[in-house]
This record gives sequence, structure tokens and C-alpha cells, in this order.
Amino acid sequence: MRPTDDLKSEHEAVMVLLGILDKVSERLESNGAVPREHLDQMLDFLRGFVDKCHHGKEETALFPAMEAAGVLRAGGPIGVMLAEHEAGRGFVRQMAAAGNDGSAFARAGRGYVALLTQHIQKENNVLFPMADKVLSAATQQRLEGEFETIEETVVGRGKHEQYHAMLHHLKEFYQA
Ligand SMILES: [Fe+2]
Ligand SMILES: [Fe+2]
Repeated sequence: MRPTDDLKSEHEAVMVLLGILDKVSERLESNGAVPREHLDQMLDFLRGFVDKCHHGKEETALFPAMEAAGVLRAGGPIGVMLAEHEAGRGFVRQMAAAGNDGSAFARAGRGYVALLTQHIQKENNVLFPMADKVLSAATQQRLEGEFETIEETVVGRGKHEQYHAMLHHLKEFYQA
């Protein structure tokens, strides 16, 4: 498996979360009740899985390797990806700060869904094919090792399964 295949399969899980977040935002906008616990579970997934694990792999392993292989950061695709990760963190902070204000949560949630949807498309269709082309087999192998280390040290064993179980539960609940 190439390192970009690992990231692509994580994108699939992120897309499931975006579908749930979309439904939740819709419900909050129409003043429907959403259990606080669900909002907290989504925030936990956004911080732990999406940001620490997934963006962590991209920012500390994949992007530096691509830069070393000549892909531009400033004024190039990596700079754009980094700026979008930062914008995503801003939306997550807004969701967390919304407290019991459902419409504020929904507004930030909608912004996050729109941002991440196009971000993932750009990575899958442009950035990752570029990585597959410019990174040597040896570098790709090294990246896979680095990804494993990130999963173990940043996320922790067993936590991945927990995230997936939670996603599955929320997906059913909101019929996302
Ligand atoms: Fe990214
Ligand atoms: Fe990504």
C-alpha cells in the first residue's frame, strides 16, 4: 500500500463525518434537538482523527517529503493545503466555542464541510498523484513507517476502532 492510499482511506472516513455534520447542521438550523454528547463526539473526531492523526501525517511526513522532492510550499500546492488545514482548525474552534448556540455551531459546521470537501478532492485528484510520481519507492516506504509511528504515539492503539465505531453509530442515527 502506498502512503497516499492510507491517506485516501482516511479521507473516506472524514467524508462520512462530513455527511453527519451536514445532517446535524440541518437539524440545528431547524431548531431540532441534537444530543450534546453527539456534538462532543464529533469534535473529538475532528480534533483527534482528522487533525492530529490525518493532518499530522500530511504535515509532518508527506508534505516535507514532497518539498524535499522539489514540490513548492510557498506559492505552491503545499502552501495551499497548509492554509486550508489552518482554516479548518478555525472552524473547529468556532464549533467548540458555540456552546449551546445551535445556529453558531451549524454555521461553523457548514463552513467546515464546504472547506474540507474541496480540500479532500484536491488532495485525492491533484496532490496525491503528484506525490506518487515524485516520491521514490524508498521514501514511500519510510513514510509508511512514519505514519505507523504517528498512529501509535499520537492517536494510540485501539482509538482508531473507537472512532470508526462512533462514526458508524452517528451515521445510522442521522441517516447520513
Ligand atoms: Fe490535507
Ligand atoms: Fe488529507
